[in-house]
Amino acid sequence: MQPRDGDFSDVERPALPDVPGMITEAEGRFLYWLTRETALGGAVVEVGTWLGRSTVHLAAGLRDAGLPGRLHAYDRFVWLPDQAHQAPDLPLRPGQSFEPVFRRFVETVDPGVHVHRADLGEIVWDAGPIDVLFLDAPKRWSEVWSALRTFGSHLVPGRSLLVFQDYLFPLSPEIALAMDRLRDRTARVHAVTPGGTVSFRVDRPLAEEDLREPPLESLDPAEVGAAWERILAALPGEARALLEPGLGALLFQMGRMDEAVRAVRAQAARGIGIEMWKGQAAFVSNYRSLRPLFHALELHRPDWDLLIEREERALARLERKRAEVERLRARIRALERGSLQGLLRRAVRRLRRVRAASAGR
Ligand SMILES: C[S@@+](CC[C@H](N)C(=O)[O-])C[C@H]1O[C@@H](n2cnc3c(N)ncnc32)[C@H](O)[C@@H]1O
Repeated sequence: MQPRDGDFSDVERPALPDVPGMITEAEGRFLYWLTRETALGGAVVEVGTWLGRSTVHLAAGLRDAGLPGRLHAYDRFVWLPDQAHQAPDLPLRPGQSFEPVFRRFVETVDPGVHVHRADLGEIVWDAGPIDVLFLDAPKRWSEVWSALRTFGSHLVPGRSLLVFQDYLFPLSPEIALAMDRLRDRTARVHAVTPGGTVSFRVDRPLAEEDLREPPLESLDPAEVGAAWERILAALPGEARALLEPGLGALLFQMGRMDEAVRAVRAQAARGIGIEMWKGQAAFVSNYRSLRPLFHALELHRPDWDLLIEREERALARLERKRAEVERLRARIRALERGSLQGLLRRAVRRLRRVRAASAGR
């Protein structure tokens, strides 16, 4: 397959349901084109479907290639409060399953899509070789490696494609670092912009035992800095500009707060990234996970701080209640044990008295 970057604007898509989603138009066109052009009859696997915007594109490509029923779609399908603003018309409550909504959208394209409700860590893959593995759930270091261990040995060298959404998103820089560690076994083929999807062809086997990650905190910041330069140098200009500010987030995830702040400030002094940081502070979920860094960068959001502190207090209250219930349960168990033993002792004493009385008669 020829390497190809950009917006895939020449790809004509069939009519598809208008599913709320987190991928761009360019990424939708790419996913449709990808399965239509590259699927060879093996499985296509997607992890992280949300309501199915990416899924309908992958499924339509397979259908139009005459290969329906090959797509396996995984998600835990649990509605989160932070997702509601992206689909405000859906009457879903936090914690509720959105699987029925997903199924309604996807069935109109291919009723044969295999839908799996599962957490990433629980997935066991035993349905043969995978042509395309599209990952849009694993974003953190350990999640990326967990997904690679689950599916890696089913990716066929010279044939399979490993595709990451959010590879170019600077707040999930661990994806790029993980793939850099596999650079002798894979080769980048596509970078989709606008968006953040990047694909890799698997050239050498990815055996489960070779995919054990070192703890992120144990990595040497200087080596990570060099890896970051290598990662950026391998990308086309637009894609590079998107990912570049992610070094600060990466150092932060490594527990290197001081180096993270220095990296962000150094980039900001060169006019890189500060708009991205300002923009991302508007999303409470990103602000929550990188709050100390936003503070250090003097991008406080007092409204988010208040909300997060309220959440933390509510969680602490819940935790105290849970511990109290556990203590009460343990006490009830002890009382029950005690009263059972008492009952038995009294019954034995009564029996002895009866025996002694009948022996004396
Ligand atoms: C970024 S969204 C996917 C967006 C989707 N691909 C689209 O086109 O709109 C990430 C999805 O991954 C799922 N997810 C996140 N972590 C997960 C995990 N550990 N196991 C299973 N699903 C997970 C979430 O429920 C969510 O639906």
